[in-house]
Amino acid sequence: MIDQQTIDRIMDAADIVEVVSDFVSLRKRGVNYIGLCPFHDEKTPSFSVSPSKGICKCFSCGKGGTAVHFIMEHEQMTYYEALRYLARKYNIEIRERELSEKEKAAKSLREEMLLINEYAQDFFVDSLWNTDEGRNVGLAYFYERGFRDDIIRKFGLGYSPEARDALSQKAIKSGYKKELLVNTGLSIEREGASSIADRFRGRVMFPVYSLSGKVVAFGGRVLRTSDKVAKYVNSPESEIYHKSNTLYGIYQAKSSIVKNDNCFLVEGYTDVLSMHQAGIPNVVASSGTSLTLGQIRQIHRFTQNVTLLYDGDAAGIKASLRGIDLLLEEGINVKVVLLPDGDDPDSFSKKQSAESFARYIGEHETDFITFKTRLLLGEAGADPMRRAALIGDIVRSISVIPDDIARSVYIKECSRMMEMREDVLMQTVTKERIKRAESGPRQDYVQREAAPHTAADEHPSGEVMAVPDGESENTPAPFEAYEYPLVRLVVKYGLTPVCYDGEELTDVVTFVVRELESDEIKFQNPLYDRIVKEAMEVSGQYRPADKEKLFLFEEVDASSEREKIATWKEYVGKLNRNFTRHFLNHAEEAISTAAVDMISEKYRLSRKNTVKSEEERLFSLVKRSITELKDAIITAKIKELGDRLKTAYKKHDQEQIRAVLEELNQYKAIKTLLSKALGERIINPM
Ligand code: CTP
Ligand code: MN
Repeated sequence: MIDQQTIDRIMDAADIVEVVSDFVSLRKRGVNYIGLCPFHDEKTPSFSVSPSKGICKCFSCGKGGTAVHFIMEHEQMTYYEALRYLARKYNIEIRERELSEKEKAAKSLREEMLLINEYAQDFFVDSLWNTDEGRNVGLAYFYERGFRDDIIRKFGLGYSPEARDALSQKAIKSGYKKELLVNTGLSIEREGASSIADRFRGRVMFPVYSLSGKVVAFGGRVLRTSDKVAKYVNSPESEIYHKSNTLYGIYQAKSSIVKNDNCFLVEGYTDVLSMHQAGIPNVVASSGTSLTLGQIRQIHRFTQNVTLLYDGDAAGIKASLRGIDLLLEEGINVKVVLLPDGDDPDSFSKKQSAESFARYIGEHETDFITFKTRLLLGEAGADPMRRAALIGDIVRSISVIPDDIARSVYIKECSRMMEMREDVLMQTVTKERIKRAESGPRQDYVQREAAPHTAADEHPSGEVMAVPDGESENTPAPFEAYEYPLVRLVVKYGLTPVCYDGEELTDVVTFVVRELESDEIKFQNPLYDRIVKEAMEVSGQYRPADKEKLFLFEEVDASSEREKIATWKEYVGKLNRNFTRHFLNHAEEAISTAAVDMISEKYRLSRKNTVKSEEERLFSLVKRSITELKDAIITAKIKELGDRLKTAYKKHDQEQIRAVLEELNQYKAIKTLLSKALGERIINPM
């Protein structure tokens, strides 16, 4: 492991412009440099390098980051390989360091979890092929559904025996710890009982592979669907499995996604298998949940083109329309193929030959904006009010597309389809873009509602499962739009002093952490939780010892008040840049990617009447973000209580009604306070 000082020296030496220039020819434009993006084909430059921030970013495909990220991506190196590359380039001697106990523990826990998953995977595969029960039940099921041996093997499908604890027993005998079985979710510990049971018993098994081919989770399907039992049971979230950042099939698909420069997106495990079987291997599944940014970014590493395969029934289509805006916004070209009524990719491909299936896709591919326009137009008919609403909806989709040219092409096409003047449409799109750039929380980060999957989490044997996973995995992150902006402020301006807190001086990160702690708020997105925790932990390293100086800039040597403020700002700016760099250079990709995203302002549009800068409004922005997050949480709580109240009324449960009403009133009082705070203009002390 390279020691931190060496990493710092490498990062200090690695001039982003120099590093990128080895591969891309750059031109200066304003304070930045631009060039043709090396990560995708383009004719007009959208790859921007910012020497002051030390990062590069393609505004078309989204790739980039620090010098290290650039090398990682361009040379396909790991984090440490890239650091070594830069060390060589700048003649920096590398010193190695030992892992800390905490790192060792974290690392070995992950490793152990992966190891036991591998063990379980072998067990399930072995049960499928080499036991009577597996062959008669599991394999027979796959055959009945028409899956070939080579596909079953390629996806590592398996079978988990009916016996209560076949896997658990065997694993423990082989020396695996019980906690590990529970941690990974392979086994379930029932409260009170001393024994553990297999989570997936009596199911056919679909291992979920990470990008690099490690088994991070399992999905287990019942053999006979019924209302009482969840069709799929999945591994719970854990240190190695974050469902929202996982795409089923990505490992088997990645090379052919690159080769075809296109990725098909389907809903389920079996759709992926069937597409492979039909000779279309560039396919991944979102596994029934809404698409997340994390998933989109993973696809984006390999291609800029995504084709959605929609089941013929219209219900799912409308539900997913909003989610598609996320793809557009990331600069992805989205196409849609509508399958015949009642068919999903799995069932449809089985009725076709590989050739006719591929032909159908080729012939029915439509770009998303056209598809959406046609769909909504058909629905609205001649009703003028509904047409107006539909135009607003489509304008929103077009407005998120980052590429100017693509946008104008769509505007033209839509103006034709909707029989509306192009310049009017153009104006509306521009207005929408300005509105979005200015609005506080990024609504576009709200994921679409997941299609409801009935989470009947009862096991065939009738026992209730300890961990109902249907809930956590199908719940979208409703607070993303409030959490992201707040975490962004922490990452970007964490060390800026904001106010006196009683006697003490406080900066952004401390202020935010205290606010959250005092109301016991945890971020729903675990990544943000970790970022903010770590921000607090490391802030001391980046903060000057003499904090007072920052507030009473007495010590600042300057001739005028203005100069004083300028010097102060510069000083704070430098502190924050070093602080931010901690996250930009984070060894953990999820964190560094998030940080890059947070400090590259791809959404800001230039406006003539410039409003006050973010720095100048910082404290009110921070307070507002916190209040908005709290408000969102309280609002959700009130809604939940409202539902409970309804149920209580239905049951005529007087006691329950009174209890819920009381709680509801308390929350409503808080809500009023928060709304008031949101309505008031907060005066910025700085
Ligand atoms: N899913 C889930 N839990 C459920 C239902 C679905 O996790 N109770 C996820 C699975 O990843 C599944 C995907 O949502 O693959 C799509 O659901 P569905 O279309 O119902 O499943 P299929 O994969 O089509 O499975 P099958 O064809 O066997 O019915
Ligand atoms: Mn299906």
